[in-house]
Order: sequence, then C-alpha cells, then structure tokens
Amino acid sequence: MANIIRQKANSQKQQQEAVKSAGDITLTLPTYKGTMGPNVADVQALYKDHGIFTFDPGFMSTGSCQSAITFIDGDLGQLLYRGYPIDQLAENCTFLETCSLLMNGELPNKTELEEFENIVTQHTMVNEQVRTFYSGFRADAHPMAILCGATGALASFYHDSLDINNPDHREISAIRLIAKMPTLTAMAYKHSIGQPFMYPDNSLSFAGNFLRMMFAVPAEEYKVNPIVERAMDLIFILHADHEQNASTSTVRLAGSSGANPFTCIAAGIASLWGPAHGGANEAVLDMLAEVGSVENIPAYIEKVKDKANPTRLMGFGHRVYKNFDPRATLMRKTCHEVLGDLGINDPMLDIAMELERIALEDPYFVDRKLYPNVDFYSGIILRAIGIPTNMFTCIFALSRTVGWISHWMEMIAEPTQKIGRPRQLYTGATERNVTPLKKRK
Ligand code: CMC
Repeated sequence: MANIIRQKANSQKQQQEAVKSAGDITLTLPTYKGTMGPNVADVQALYKDHGIFTFDPGFMSTGSCQSAITFIDGDLGQLLYRGYPIDQLAENCTFLETCSLLMNGELPNKTELEEFENIVTQHTMVNEQVRTFYSGFRADAHPMAILCGATGALASFYHDSLDINNPDHREISAIRLIAKMPTLTAMAYKHSIGQPFMYPDNSLSFAGNFLRMMFAVPAEEYKVNPIVERAMDLIFILHADHEQNASTSTVRLAGSSGANPFTCIAAGIASLWGPAHGGANEAVLDMLAEVGSVENIPAYIEKVKDKANPTRLMGFGHRVYKNFDPRATLMRKTCHEVLGDLGINDPMLDIAMELERIALEDPYFVDRKLYPNVDFYSGIILRAIGIPTNMFTCIFALSRTVGWISHWMEMIAEPTQKIGRPRQLYTGATERNVTPLKKRK
C-alpha cells in the first residue's frame, strides 16, 4: 500500500514539474488604497474579463478581504490593534479592555469597560453537561484536541442564539466564546492531571480567574500571584489578534459559508495547532529540551542550516515580520522580569538566550531576516508560570479567540459577503476513460 502511495506521489510530482509557462501577459488592473499599507490590485473580474485565474499558493501577495481591525508592517515591526500600537496597549490596558477594543472598534470608557467586564464575567461558566464530554477523553489526550472538540460542541447548547444574521446573536456568541474559553482550557488541563474542575470565580480578573481554574484545588485556598497575573494578561494581549494569519483566515473561510461561530472558532483552533503557527511555542520548548545544553547549540545550529535536514529553529522567523516582531520585544522584557521576580533560574533559559545570541549574529539567519518571534519567549514565560508545554497552544487559542471572533463579526456584517471559494492551477491528468478493473494492469 505504502508503495502504491509513493508511486502516486511521484507521478503527481512529475505532473507538477511538467507545468509549462503559458507566456506572459500584460493587464491593466484597478488598484485601491487602504488607510495604511501597500496598495492592492483588484483581480475580482480577471476571470470574467480575461479568462485567467491568479496563482498565489501561501497567499504571498493576496489580500483575502478588507479589514479595519489589525494592521501589521512587517518591515517596520509595527503591530496596531484598531490603530493603537501594541506596546501602548500592553502598557496601559488589560486584556478585556483590548477585547472590547478589537470587537467594538474603540477603547471603552470606564462605564463601557465595566459593562463589558460584567457581561463577560456573567458567561464564564459552561453548561454542566460539558463536564461529561471531558470524561470521554483519555487522560493523555492532547489538550488542543479537547479544546477543539469542546469549543465546537458549545454550538449544541445555544440553539436560541445561532442566527448569524442577527447582530444580537452574533454579539452574545462572541461574549460566550471569550468568557468560556479560559474555563474550557483549564478544564482540559485538570482532566489531564486527574484533578477536579474548578468553577470560575467572578471576583477575580480575567487572568486571575484563569490561573485559579488552572492551579487551585478545592481542598486549599489559592492566592493569585500579581506578577504572574500581569504576565498572563500580557500574553493574552500580545496574542489577541494578528490580521489574516492561517487560523484567522480559516475562521473567515469556515464562517463564509454561514457556519455558526462556535464551529468556526473550532476550525481556527485546528489551524492554530500546527507547529508552523500556534504550535510553535510548544515546539520551542521541545527544541530546547532536545538541544539539552549550551555546548550542543553549535551542532544544532548546523543541523538547522542544513538544507537536507527539515529541522527549523523554532520560534524564529515570521511570514510578515522581517526585521523584528514587536510582540517578541515586549515578551523578552517580560520574560526576564517574570523569571527575576519569581526567582527562577532555568537552564532552558540559558540555552534559549545563547541560541538567540548566536542566531542573531549568524549570516544564515541575518541574511534571511530570521528573528525571534513572540513564541520564542512566551513558551519560556509559560513554563516559568508552571503551565505544562502541551497547554501552550491552548493559551494561544484562548487569547486569539477575541481576534477570530472580531474578524468573523466584521465579515458577517459586510453587506456583500460571499462564500470563500479559491480556484486552482490544475496539474492532474487530462480527461481519460476508465479501464474496467479486470483489464487494469
Ligand atoms: N529556521 C531555519 N531556517 C528558516 C526558519 C527557521 N525557523 N524559518 C525560515 N527559514 C529559512 C527557510 O529554510 C528559507 O531558506 P531558503 O531561502 O534558503 O530556502 C527561508 O528561511 C525562508 O523561509 P520560508 O519558509 O519561505 O518563510 P515563510 O515566511 O514561509 O515561513 C515561518 C515563516 C514562521 C513558517 C517559518 O519562519 C518557520 O517555520 N518558523 C519556525 C516556526 C515558528 O516559530 N512559527 C511561529 C510563527 S509566530 C506565531 C504565529 O504568528 O503563528
């Protein structure tokens, strides 16, 4: 069987290699100007007017939608949520303030923030029947698998508010998702270690409540450490949105068919899980463990640079940031503060810092503009806080839920919204006749 699959893959590869140039064409296209960023060429009428499609695997030059939520300039290392620089938001705002901004477009005033916090807080509990889903998962199930399933399953509880054409339904679904994600995430962790689930405590902050649901046990009093609480909140803010990345585009594509928001977010969680995206923070720690000690770093760097070896330096490089990742700058600072404040002396951090130093000087990384990204540092902070490696991507999903749902709401509210349906450059067999089985060789 494996042999047949290999033969088929080889023949597909040959067909792909056989793609020949069709010649160059010159076209005049309308262009549009956004408020920031490069202009875009409008190719919507290309097939109708000229009978050709565009070809852009990986969306290297393709704008898939118009959006007013987040702006990134990868060359400047700039990240703005609704026009506000990420460092100013990180310094002045809480995560829930940031959520209100992303969802509603403006920073809330005091009364608006209180109302927003209040409504999120009122939706932190999950239906008791959700607990029974969790008992169906093996204790060693990856928490991302649990989170993906549990988030999609939320759709089965809210039949009365799943009309995506009703703005009130869209809003309450968004609030429910933001509010319940920490609860579902902490439950995934508690299930994996066999401890009782902790109900939310609405007297605590969003981050404080999450930490308590993760680390408290019913038998003992739990006090939230303010340093850890602030670091957690910062991690949530820095991961809250990142314009049209793989998972957000997945949420939009799933939602474009009219699917309900809970299943769209489950699709986003699935996309985020991959090691090239949200799974990178987990992969960073796995990599540091594999390197093992500072002396092994040069050999590891050589392995990463070897084209014949698929190993990559996890936590380095970004499709958009080609000078530095502004989230990484903030995370690096917090990383040192948290480790200092908690008095943690982690040999993994020594390996990470030495890797960072070498990679920032090595021409391989410098020439390719491969800088540490946010996940390089967030993994180290999460480890210091006591969060196990396999929970890292869940924390990313928890944080990114507000970004996903804001994009989903923006898309559904567009009067001209269409189902997403890309086209392709077909490289398969041309039309041929079926040979009956007994005559096939
Ligand atoms: N280690 C070693 N070489 C790398 C790395 C890396 N981490 N990233 C890219 N390269 C090389 C790659 O081999 C290629 O070299 P060459 O030009 O000689 O063929 C060149 O750099 C360009 O790579 P690419 O794959 O075309 O770049 P991309 O923009 O498609 O990939 C990326 C971006 C993030 C997927 C990639 O840099 C990567 O795999 N990084 C490691 C995973 C990681 O940390 N991901 C988290 C991203 S931040 C969180 C998020 O927003 O999701």
